Amino acid sequence: MVRNILDVVDLSVEEINDLIKLACDIINDPKAYSEKCRGKKLATLFFEPSTRTRLSFEAAMYELGGSVLGFSEAQSSSASKGESVADTARVVSCYADIIAMRHPKEGAPRVAADNASIPVINAGDGGHNHPTQTLTDLLTIYREKGRLNDFTIGFCGDLKFGRTVHSLINALSRYTGIKIVLISPEELKLPSYVKKDVLMAKGIPYVQTTDLESVMPELDILYMTRVQKERFFNEEDYLRLKDSYILNMKKLENAKKDLCILHPLPRVNEISREVDNDPRACYFKQVLNGKYIRMALMLTLLEEAAR
Ligand code: NCD
Repeated sequence: MVRNILDVVDLSVEEINDLIKLACDIINDPKAYSEKCRGKKLATLFFEPSTRTRLSFEAAMYELGGSVLGFSEAQSSSASKGESVADTARVVSCYADIIAMRHPKEGAPRVAADNASIPVINAGDGGHNHPTQTLTDLLTIYREKGRLNDFTIGFCGDLKFGRTVHSLINALSRYTGIKIVLISPEELKLPSYVKKDVLMAKGIPYVQTTDLESVMPELDILYMTRVQKERFFNEEDYLRLKDSYILNMKKLENAKKDLCILHPLPRVNEISREVDNDPRACYFKQVLNGKYIRMALMLTLLEEAAR
């Protein structure tokens, strides 16, 4: 059966927990998995720039013994000649076994999935969704805290355009005992559809503030984000908002000793480099976890497709 992962809610909580367990097994014994995808090919179709997501998908497939083909910018694909996403997906289905696709337009991976005959994984679509970053975040929280329930998480920065924020809030709303603190400038507040359809619909307690320091002592996890320059309509607004929050050691003075600081990366200015050496900084560990959870996801989807 061909199964696509376009949104994090395409996976049940049970399936997410199974993926986390599989990722932990891979971390403990990578050799046992090094031939699992021998002969399989991943196509990375990236219509928008990426470092971590594309390279971690590729590294993940190589570490499973498979191989990789694809493109890293729309300009080097037939999209530049006017080919539709639907046609590209049909064509690539003739060459590969699984697709990871990133696109600036919301919903493009769904169009690909409707036209491909192999599994499609959404590797980020516009300001909408980024399910594999969310799986990465969940694996990191699980490895750092030993659980995925009963904590207070602060999201700070660009909550309007940040797709990783939208996806993670969606995923966490299905666990118990989660409290959410939304920290952003007025102009970059969480979209009302996420508040209404997720937080309110699921009865998740949340507060909104513009002030990071005043809420710092409550947080078990702090999820920092970059202001999403590419989604702004004018440069002036971006320049005014881009350095709204800069996390430094001073701002961490009142933070919990076991705070876990996450960031999907790339970082611009929102975390000062002095924080990198603090044991609470988990964002580079998060990068490594991203490779393992993508190994777990691709292995699971390919096994299901072979059934
Ligand atoms: C994020 C993205 O692409 O949405 N990056 C990532 O995948 N690790 C976050 C960002 O670009 O700010």
